[in-house]
Amino acid sequence: MSAEASGTPPLLEVEGVSKGFPGVQALDDVRLDLRHGEVLALVGENGAGKSTLMKLLAGIYTPDAGVFRMNGRDLLLDGPRHAQEQGISIIHQEFNLMPDLTVAQNIFIGREERGAGIFLDDRALNRRAQDLFDRLGLALDPAEPVERLTVARQQMVEIAKALSFDAKVLIMDEPTAALNDAEVDVLFELIRRFRSPETGVIYISHRMEELARISDRITVLRDGRYIDTLVTAETDQRTVISLMVGRQLAGDDRPTGSAPAGEPVLSVRGLSTKRLLRDVSFDVHAGEILGFAGLMGAGRTEVARAIVGADRRDSGVISVRGREVQIQSPADAARLGIGYLSEDRKQLGVLLERSVRENIVLASLKDYLGALGFVRDRRIETTGREYVQKLRIKTPSTAQLVRNLSGGNQQKVVIAKWLAKDCDVLIFDEPTRGIDVGAKEEIYGLLRDLAGQGKAIVMISSELPEVLRLADRIAVMAEGRLTAVLDNAAATQENVMDYATRFSAEGTITR
Ligand SMILES: Nc1ncnc2c1ncn2[C@@H]1O[C@H](COP(=O)(O)OP(=O)(O)OP(=O)(O)O)[C@@H](O)[C@H]1O
Ligand SMILES: [Mg+2]
Repeated sequence: MSAEASGTPPLLEVEGVSKGFPGVQALDDVRLDLRHGEVLALVGENGAGKSTLMKLLAGIYTPDAGVFRMNGRDLLLDGPRHAQEQGISIIHQEFNLMPDLTVAQNIFIGREERGAGIFLDDRALNRRAQDLFDRLGLALDPAEPVERLTVARQQMVEIAKALSFDAKVLIMDEPTAALNDAEVDVLFELIRRFRSPETGVIYISHRMEELARISDRITVLRDGRYIDTLVTAETDQRTVISLMVGRQLAGDDRPTGSAPAGEPVLSVRGLSTKRLLRDVSFDVHAGEILGFAGLMGAGRTEVARAIVGADRRDSGVISVRGREVQIQSPADAARLGIGYLSEDRKQLGVLLERSVRENIVLASLKDYLGALGFVRDRRIETTGREYVQKLRIKTPSTAQLVRNLSGGNQQKVVIAKWLAKDCDVLIFDEPTRGIDVGAKEEIYGLLRDLAGQGKAIVMISSELPEVLRLADRIAVMAEGRLTAVLDNAAATQENVMDYATRFSAEGTITR
């Protein structure tokens, strides 16, 4: 905890800041202060204005009104470079890495030492990057191309990059969205080591349980307005959430977990891949949500990818309603009525340069062609509007480019895309990543409704409470194998974790 001595100005002050975009008042007269040595959490629903405020601080946008002060002195933020020079470093929600450059090149891009001629001196860069990683205790290879890294490791590169500047204020915009528990621990350790009497951290997250672990105070934004700032030690999650959403949330009862009555819609037998999966077999029934739990790297995403043909299967039979099917690509899967939402929305999920409504009908476009092959714009608009309302997608209109939506609202568009297509089977990998607590409840409700309509749903999530909250049955994976399939009523955090860390040579242990 930092107690600012009376009279000492805060490390950073924001006062009366407003910022509008066409059709959207993203920020309206917002204030905030960051004290020396503190971690200030910034929370709010998707589209509340968190990232916009941080982009103003990072010199990426210019405010319409308002002032910024650092240690009592007015701060002019003339572009990202300028903000950085004044000690403000940001880790973006959407990564800004160049996929075909190496880790070291990404970190020092724009400030490299040049070797002879126009070529970069990679050896020197790699050495500098290695020094940085040693100092931060990060196991990263400077020479590895970024495109080969997992999302979590890309995040580590972003963090290393931000810390490589001599930052006074470190802004982290949802740094843990793609991290597992162990990686979150590493991140929190980095934050603790970074904070000092001269520095401070602004920390954005939708994971409420993190706030108590890492933050000293919490500032809440709602609809672009400042709501309140709370001392973390003197408040609780419920208070914070009610300030964020400004309305009552539905209860959190778990499914009753009765055994599936419907027919198996999707059956998987003996699924194996060279890399990881060993003999995975399971059924998903009509009307059922099957949740996949397990540690990072256990093979949950691999199962989904192998089923829809995003990765090569080495053996295994997939059947839809009892008939064996051949699936070589996600497009094949979609034709067979299997929708797949990948965990990496930027790569496979949305077209950023297209409108909200176009993205929503993307998976079912052929349903929108008229008799002569004309696209039926009115119907696209109707469907677009329907899902914008259902999922509370925050956008001025369905014609808005997805690029201009907040991160969580982009994720809602990807979900809408699969809800709008009439699939028999939906496979959702980390569907609520980056989605605020209120919207999560709405998405749970929608998935429940879909199951109620007789669809078979597979949901992968790293958040165990979410799996327990939503799934009728829970498939647990460890080291590429299925170690258990539990009825919800029989599942607890403890026994799921137990199966997630256990390795069973016998194959599946049921119940
Ligand atoms: N470049 C832009 N053009 C138009 N509208 C924008 C732009 N950037 C942000 N907005 C809008 O401003 C509002 C605030 O967005 P912002 O990204 O700051 O939200 P956020 O609080 O970070 O949400 P999330 O939790 O989903 O990341 C949203 O309605 C968003 O659609
Ligand atoms: Mg954001």
